[in-house]
This record gives sequence, structure tokens and C-alpha cells, in this order.
Amino acid sequence: MRDERRGEMMKLGAFFHPTGNHVAAWLHPESQIDAGTNFQHYAEITRTAERGKFDLMFVADAVAVREGKLSALSRWPQYMAYFDPLTLLPALAAVTSHIGLVATATTSYNEPYHIARKFASLDHISGGRAGWNVVTSSNVAEAYNFGREQHYEHDERYDRAVEFVEVVRGLWDSWEDDAFVRDRMSGRYFDPTKLHTLNHKGPHFSVRGPLNVARPPQGHPVLFQAGSSEVGREAAARFAEGVFTPQHNLADAQAFYRDLKSRMAKYGRLSGSLKVMPGLNAIVGHTRQEAIEKHRYLQSKIHPDVGLELLSNQLGGFDLAGYDVDGPLPEIPERYGALSGQTSMRHILRWAREEGLSIREIYQRFAGARGQRTLVGSALDIADDMETWFRGYGVDGFLMHPSHLPGGLNDFVELVIPELQSRGLFRSQYEGATLRDRMGLERPKNRYLS
Ligand SMILES: Cc1cc2nc3c(=O)[nH]c(=O)nc-3n(C[C@H](O)[C@H](O)[C@H](O)COP(=O)(O)O)c2cc1C
Repeated sequence: MRDERRGEMMKLGAFFHPTGNHVAAWLHPESQIDAGTNFQHYAEITRTAERGKFDLMFVADAVAVREGKLSALSRWPQYMAYFDPLTLLPALAAVTSHIGLVATATTSYNEPYHIARKFASLDHISGGRAGWNVVTSSNVAEAYNFGREQHYEHDERYDRAVEFVEVVRGLWDSWEDDAFVRDRMSGRYFDPTKLHTLNHKGPHFSVRGPLNVARPPQGHPVLFQAGSSEVGREAAARFAEGVFTPQHNLADAQAFYRDLKSRMAKYGRLSGSLKVMPGLNAIVGHTRQEAIEKHRYLQSKIHPDVGLELLSNQLGGFDLAGYDVDGPLPEIPERYGALSGQTSMRHILRWAREEGLSIREIYQRFAGARGQRTLVGSALDIADDMETWFRGYGVDGFLMHPSHLPGGLNDFVELVIPELQSRGLFRSQYEGATLRDRMGLERPKNRYLS
């Protein structure tokens, strides 16, 4: 497994939550207060990440506003009003030239033809920089916007996702790379022998094809996946090329890394064709003390209503009202697990049972980093930690979650990136032309050419 890295450097993604990752980011004076619908803000932070030579920027998505108590929601504006990612990313493609542009699209409330077309278009517009984060939707309220009274059940969502991805990949192969001859002399625009019709009929989808976009520059836009449950891992092993995952200690990250990569052989895949990129909420200062102060400031801004609401969401909607916030987390009935993301729930229960954290301590830890690992320190502290995880085969890279934007990203690019570069862990110049090239991923062959 180790040899497959072939001397590759660390991969870095930047996760752009509208005002930043921290739940109180919008209260920080160095964050853009109307970030969700401010295009200049996204243009600025994407260019900053590009200056830092990040492999990619990533925007998450849901097709519903969050459900919950308005008293809490009104104090936490993230993801209440923000751009549709597949409208935003083509615009960002026009103001950047190297960085990968990755967005979530749900397989629960979309049709494969739409998604194949949109990401193929983004790949053309950006010159081969598109990536799709395949999610099954963690927000139960999405069901109500798409003619359903209930969200699909957890494993059924993944079943649908696997077929969905298969259809999308088939549609991307509709045209061979050189199908469009566009020859004025012969008067032939495309070669009909290089056009393929999918004719897919499966349990969830019936899609004839072909797609009305030429094969994407990358062959297929890069596929990401962000669910770490048993079925989530199996789906990732089958098709993902990048995996986003919360990991809180190196031993668990190494176990996850090994587990995921060892599942790939049965799908005919090499372990190097999937990059594991756990989330990292790094709060950096010129000194360790400065970083601690920055973190303390943000933590102090978490309103208890918001903390409880966030925690309850992660527990499948289990209502914590009426429990003593300084007391222990009560038993959470198993049925709530099916309604939530299982990975976050597992971490939260472990903090409660093994570390004995109170409800308040749990929501502070969870809400502060939104479930991702937090690291607070100087550039050296942060680079040391990242190096240990990378060299220890716990990760192929990281998905950085700047705590507040643009401030937290500026700090990381100014302070940590040069440190990683000077250690030979991260690039100083972009290599290759596409996101695939930069991530060390092969361009997929067209399925009709064997
Ligand atoms: C970094 C990261 C980004 C995610 N982005 C989204 C997203 O944009 N939309 C969404 O519905 N779920 C998102 N998720 C949730 C996962 O896709 C998944 O639904 C969740 O982890 C539960 O799946 P699991 O039970 O397999 O862990 C994200 C998760 C992680 C770790």
C-alpha cells in the first residue's frame, strides 16, 4: 500500500463554509458577515487558496434550510441563505486558473442526468478542475421539498447513491474523447461510431442517454465521498477518489485509512487511486498563545441555544431540552442513529461515555469545530502535527476548515503553507493541468474502449 504514494506530497483542500467553519464565525470581526450570498467574498477566498497552492476548494450543500428551533437558527446564519454551488463554481472558474472546484450534490434529491450534465459542463468551463462530492443528504428536511414525507432510510440512500454514480459515470462516457471531429471540409461534426447510448435500467433509475455534453476534459470529474459509516465506506471503496472524514486521533485515522484502502481491491482498484483527506480545523497564530486566544474568543461566542440545537441535530433530532447542560448526556435510543449521520453520532457518544464530557462540554467541542478535529497552535505546532499524520499513513492530505473567513484562511496561507513547503510536504508550484493531475489520479478510460 505504501509504495503507491510514489513520493506524492500532501493533498490540501479548503472547505468554505459561508462565514467559516466555526458556528460563531459570523460574530468574528475578521469574517465576511454576508458571506453566503457575496460573490466577491467567494472570489477572494478562492484566489487566496489558489495563492496557497491548495489542490481544491470545496463547498457543501443541502437542498433545504435547516430544521430546528428558530430561537437557535436565528443565531446561526450558516447555510440559511447561500448560493447554489453549481451556479457559484462556474463563476469561480472564470476568476481562477489552477485550483480544483468541488461541490456537493445529493443523490437522494437529484436525477443522474442533471448531475452528469452539470459537472461535465463545470469541467469544460474550468478546464478540467471539477469535482463532485457525492452525498446522500444528512438534512432530513430535504425530503419535504421533493414530494416525500420522510427521508430515505440510511442504507437505502447509499444503495441509490451507488446506482446513481454508476449512471453518471456511464453518461460521461457517452462520447469518446475524439468524437467531435468538427471537420468543415468533410462537413461532419461528429463521428457517429464514437457516440454511445447507456440504456440503463436499474432498481432506482431508468436512463437512456446519451449525454448532451462532450466527454469532460478529465474524462470524469473527480469523485469525492464524505460518509464514514459501514455502507458509506463500502461506497467510497467502490467509487470515491477523495474521501472527506472526521478523524479525531491518529490511531483511529490510521485504522480508517487502512480499512478503506483494503476494501478497494475487490472493486479492481489500487489503493493509491483514493486519497483520504480528514477534516482539520486549524487555528493558527504567530505564537501558540495568540492561537489559544483566537480559539477562546470564538468558543466564548457560542450561544447555548445554538450549541444544543447543533448537538440535537447530530443525534438524529433527539431533544435535549430539559436536561441539565452541565450533567451527562442521556441514553440516546438506537432509532435516532438511523435518522442521523452515524459517524458524528459515534464520536459524540464516545466523548460522553469515555471522556465523561457534560452536555455543555460536548456541544462546545462539537459546535466549535462542527465535528471536525481542532488544532490550536503556532505554524510549527500545526505543521508538526500534519507531518506526523501524513508520514504515519493516517492521511493522504487534509480538508482544512478555516474557522472564520477570510481571516482564518489568510492566517493558514501566510503562516502554515510556507512551513509545509519548506519541509517538502507540499507543492510550491502547481503541477499538471487538471485537478486529477494534481491529486495524482489517473484519467479514467472510456468504458466503451476496452
Ligand atoms: C467534510 C464533510 C462534508 C460533508 N458535506 C456534506 C454536504 O455538503 N451535504 C450533505 O448532505 N452532507 C454532507 N456531509 C455528510 C456526509 O455526506 C454524510 O451524509 C454523513 O457523514 C453521514 O453519513 P455516514 O452515516 O455514512 O457517516 C459531509 C460530511 C463531511 C465529513
